[in-house]
Amino acid sequence: MNVEKIKSDFPVLSRKVNGKELVYLDSAATSQKPRHVINTIVDYYENHNANVHRGVHALSEEATEAYEGARKKVANFVNAKPDEMIFTRNATEGINLVAQCLGFGKGDEIISSVMEHHSNIVPWQMLKSRGVTIGFVDINDDGTLKMDDYEKLVTKKTKLVAVTHASNVLGTINDVKKIAKIAHDAGALLLVDAAQSVPHMPVDVRDMGADFLVFSGHKMLGPTGIGCLYGRRRLLEEMPPFMGGGDMIKSVELEKTVYNDVPYRFEAGTPDIAGAVGLGAAVDYLAKIGMKNVREHEKKLVNRATKELQMVETYGHAGGKGGVVAFNVRGLHSHDVASMLDENGIAVRSGHHCAQPLMKRLGIISAARASFYVYNDEEDIAKLSASLKDIINLLKKVA
Ligand SMILES: Cc1ncc(COP(=O)(O)O)c(C=O)c1O
Repeated sequence: MNVEKIKSDFPVLSRKVNGKELVYLDSAATSQKPRHVINTIVDYYENHNANVHRGVHALSEEATEAYEGARKKVANFVNAKPDEMIFTRNATEGINLVAQCLGFGKGDEIISSVMEHHSNIVPWQMLKSRGVTIGFVDINDDGTLKMDDYEKLVTKKTKLVAVTHASNVLGTINDVKKIAKIAHDAGALLLVDAAQSVPHMPVDVRDMGADFLVFSGHKMLGPTGIGCLYGRRRLLEEMPPFMGGGDMIKSVELEKTVYNDVPYRFEAGTPDIAGAVGLGAAVDYLAKIGMKNVREHEKKLVNRATKELQMVETYGHAGGKGGVVAFNVRGLHSHDVASMLDENGIAVRSGHHCAQPLMKRLGIISAARASFYVYNDEEDIAKLSASLKDIINLLKKVA
């Protein structure tokens, strides 16, 4: 992978922050966008913009072709079929869609885990008013899931197991194939939150046995406002719509409506056409690099970071973890650490990372997090490490 060349594809990475070259280590929150994606969106608006599925004029046909072409690209990227791929606003919306449409009722159980992002906890909690109960799989000290908990918690009453493929805090990559087997053996379904995996490694929905899988475009070089929900076709066909309105219907009479086929049934109203087209361009860009290469590159970076960041407390030590290192500097709040790093042009996330139950489980209130992507190199990690050493030395002087 030619990281220097890749870096030059991202206009924002050539800017300065606080007089220093920007070191962007916050891709787990949102990734930067390559010129190819930005230009594709500009080209769409300048030359093809129209509404989709509705007109017979040239622009409408071009817009529809671009939108449906993006669906094909994204589906292919995770080995799904286009009619199993629903465009949503983001991963969060995909999970909410499943929560609201899968027909949960009294007595149903859902098994989540303590390492989930809030978006894979709260939508399930919202079903408690329907009499649904939720169980949570715990983690081991190294930040891996306690797989034995699945054997104990998943029962015949379990309707769905919801788990993240890759933790946004610990970096742990979970054995979702194994979890799929446990779920299916008990007659339950598996939803995989792939917000932190689809951008960073090869993902194959069929091979892993996911029944549903969600991800967000903005974390994988695409624009904000567009995400995807994969669902097994048989399941999607049985599910009622999430929202009502235009485009999700075959026919409407005042008395009743005949819903459209999958996936359009779940895409009420004018969709984010430019967003989908931009996501298609992001997928092209990533496919050109090759997802195996992306994964290997990030493995190298995370190994280097793990070695370098011995002077801070880090969380999540699973073998083969993804490109995320959460850490704390003893005696400082993570927001202060992030602000001090920002003075050196280094962007890291700080806070609870939308994973408050995990923070509680780790016995902390917050952490700073460096996360890596295709445009990061070892020099970025060296700069982070040097800045952290300076911060710690400063603290020693003050103490
Ligand atoms: C593991 C995980 N799941 C879900 C989400 C939610 O993504 P979005 O806010 O794009 O819906 C995130 C975002 O950080 C995440 O890291």
